[in-house]
Amino acid sequence: MITLDYKTHCAGHITQKEIDSYKQKLQDVKEKFNNKNIDMQGWLDIDATISKQQLKQIKDLKNKIYSSHSVLVVIGVGGSYLGAEAFQKATTNYFVDFNDHNVIFAGYNLSGEYLENLIKYLDNKNFYINYISKSGTTLEPRLAFETLLKYAKQRYPNKFNERIIITTNTTGSPLSEIAKQNNYHLLSMPNNIGGRYSILTAVGMLPLCVCGLDIDEMLKGARDASKNYDLALEYAVARDILYNKGYKVEAFTIYEPKLSDLASWWQQLFGETQGKEKKGIFPICNINTSNLHSIGQYLQDGEDIIFETVLRVKDLGNFKLANVDLTYSELNNIVLDQVAVAHAIGNTPSIVISIDKISAYNFGELVYFFFIAAAAGGFLLGINPYDQPGVEEYKKQIKLKTKDIL
Ligand code: PA5
Repeated sequence: MITLDYKTHCAGHITQKEIDSYKQKLQDVKEKFNNKNIDMQGWLDIDATISKQQLKQIKDLKNKIYSSHSVLVVIGVGGSYLGAEAFQKATTNYFVDFNDHNVIFAGYNLSGEYLENLIKYLDNKNFYINYISKSGTTLEPRLAFETLLKYAKQRYPNKFNERIIITTNTTGSPLSEIAKQNNYHLLSMPNNIGGRYSILTAVGMLPLCVCGLDIDEMLKGARDASKNYDLALEYAVARDILYNKGYKVEAFTIYEPKLSDLASWWQQLFGETQGKEKKGIFPICNINTSNLHSIGQYLQDGEDIIFETVLRVKDLGNFKLANVDLTYSELNNIVLDQVAVAHAIGNTPSIVISIDKISAYNFGELVYFFFIAAAAGGFLLGINPYDQPGVEEYKKQIKLKTKDIL
């Protein structure tokens, strides 16, 4: 269960009167969520996000990958990989042997060294490739796929196509034709769900199933959260109030390092959803306690433009300190509270979101909670939460220089 506290450490910044003043605006947001004419809201209905048949297809693919002792190389960028990477890291031991850690990511950079090293790493292993691109045209994953496909053809001359899984839009993507023509496995994803809202579709479900997460539980968590999302709307309101008071930067603060990629996923969701028309909160990730010794200085004493959204995990295990009868989990929670007190003294308010423990179910709830808050926050700002026109400009500039070569 998720709980939200924007009172303890936001005193004086968010009043009940201000919250009450959002009543009509929230009614309008709910109407937008219920409006079937608004495009790209497929993520709202978990049952339409992924079908039973597709879940079976995903589990069958996982069995194939496991039975051939293969690595799954996920190729994608932005919303096509960040969610899977986040929840893989969050649920994997810190120090793992190869067999415990069989999903790796590519196609999110233009590093030749990365691909060169990856191919070397794969040389004595079996592998499958999951190329994920809604549009089928994004530069980084397209180039990584071309490289890894060439390598797969060398490694599996007559059978490489059995090892390629394409995840792409149901219609309009060149990749689905390519998959059909070449007999690759094909996982379709609904056109009416954007990349950053796609973790609960085949985009996230295959990689997460392969890395051992209980995807049925994750979907159950999200489904339960979809039945009542008022708390997520409250979070959206709290953020909006702070933003309107000059708090233009939101630091998503975590105290368990294995949640750092979850913070990056959160950052993409909020950054691409809201940063447009010269409006929106700038989202940053803050990994504690390490950052208490770096940007903690700014959070305490710098300009009053930053508020924190702190993710509390109540139970982080039973491992105890060497010489005191206290768990690291208990200590982390004490530190979390006291840092929020200190930062409030420095005029940096904290919103605290709590979950009981790290689990697939809780992650499902959390994902849905953040989807609602991000989209609602976009509506409160008066912008379209589902497009990303700013991303197009750099793509245009790159194309100007590369259109004849790539
Ligand atoms: O959230 C988004 O919409 C983007 O980050 C996309 O996921 C990203 O640009 C990758 O796009 P595509 O899946 O079309 O390759």
